[in-house]
Amino acid sequence: MDRSQDHTGQDQAPGEGEPGEGEPGSVVGAIEQAALAAILRAGTLDELDAVVVDATGKRSSLADLQRQLSERSAGSRPAWGKALQQARRTLGEAAERRRTELAAAQRAERSVAERMDLTEVLPAPLPGQLHPVTQTWEELEDIFTGMGFVVAEGPEVEDDWHNFTALNMPANHPARDGQDSFYLEMGEPESVLLRTQTSPVQIRLMESQPPPIWAVSPGRVYRRDTPDASHLAAFHQIEALVVDRGISFAHLAGTISTFTKAFFGPSVRSRLRPAYFPFTEPSAEFDISCTLCGGDGCRSCGGVGWLELGGSGMVDPAVFQAVGLDPEEWSGFAFGFGIDRCAAMRWGIPDIRLLVDNDARFLSQF
Ligand code: DAH
Repeated sequence: MDRSQDHTGQDQAPGEGEPGEGEPGSVVGAIEQAALAAILRAGTLDELDAVVVDATGKRSSLADLQRQLSERSAGSRPAWGKALQQARRTLGEAAERRRTELAAAQRAERSVAERMDLTEVLPAPLPGQLHPVTQTWEELEDIFTGMGFVVAEGPEVEDDWHNFTALNMPANHPARDGQDSFYLEMGEPESVLLRTQTSPVQIRLMESQPPPIWAVSPGRVYRRDTPDASHLAAFHQIEALVVDRGISFAHLAGTISTFTKAFFGPSVRSRLRPAYFPFTEPSAEFDISCTLCGGDGCRSCGGVGWLELGGSGMVDPAVFQAVGLDPEEWSGFAFGFGIDRCAAMRWGIPDIRLLVDNDARFLSQF
């Protein structure tokens, strides 16, 4: 280092008790140049802060020279003072400029790193779709409206009269036991419940309009059942009711055969088996040929070749009487079955609980 640039003056021979001499302009100028170069080299805001402390802080050469001012001769002191002040101003301004540059660069870098491409298009878009139960519900409505039925809905919160009594299930009727109910704390004890079946819509239809009636009623129903592979506590049924003149069991059989072929396909057969329901007489359960084995017998149908779908029958005269219709004048049939079960049969879904798990991998298959 050129001795004249040794601002500390410690290596220089002091003249007349003053710190090392040298021209203030060149001594301070050299310090300033070195510090300016360091400021420009600073690559980050942290580095810049460190450079500024080194160049102008308490332990800097400039601070040393500042402290030595009082020891300078009165003649040289103003020039040193001015040079130091000038250097601090220049370095301060340079540091500010560099700080602005570095901050801008840092912002640009962060915005690149955190950038989201809002124009990005997924290679395989995943469109939403209707739940398989909704698809089934809507398709059944289509099939039945195509056969001349209208769609009618009833409330999910029902009273005892519509859900049981008017359907020929008076209090203590054993058939009530098969439909363990959720009762609401409303009115008399056990007088208001979540409907256990869509059959009460039959009563509401007959109470609210004169025959002829050709209606289907899809909707949600509730039972105090523990969910298993074939049961849910909240599930869906669709009910059909026909009340007209001269309706026979043949109309019932023909309607079931037509709708099962329309929904499951022309190769699927249906059959009626004698059964008992309080609100129909005679009553029958209806089956369809197994959708998996076609009727040969497999694990899914328990080897019998048939799958049980729902219940049906001719409207019981007691039901007509409950709603004030003359059973001598009117006749009709009714049937009802589970929509969830129907969806499971169509697609070969082995466990009905899969329908309510909401697993997109499962649901996206339908
Ligand atoms: N409601 C009955 C049930 O949930 C199903 C049923 C059977 C409906 C016979 C009907 C019918 O309309 O006639 O088990």
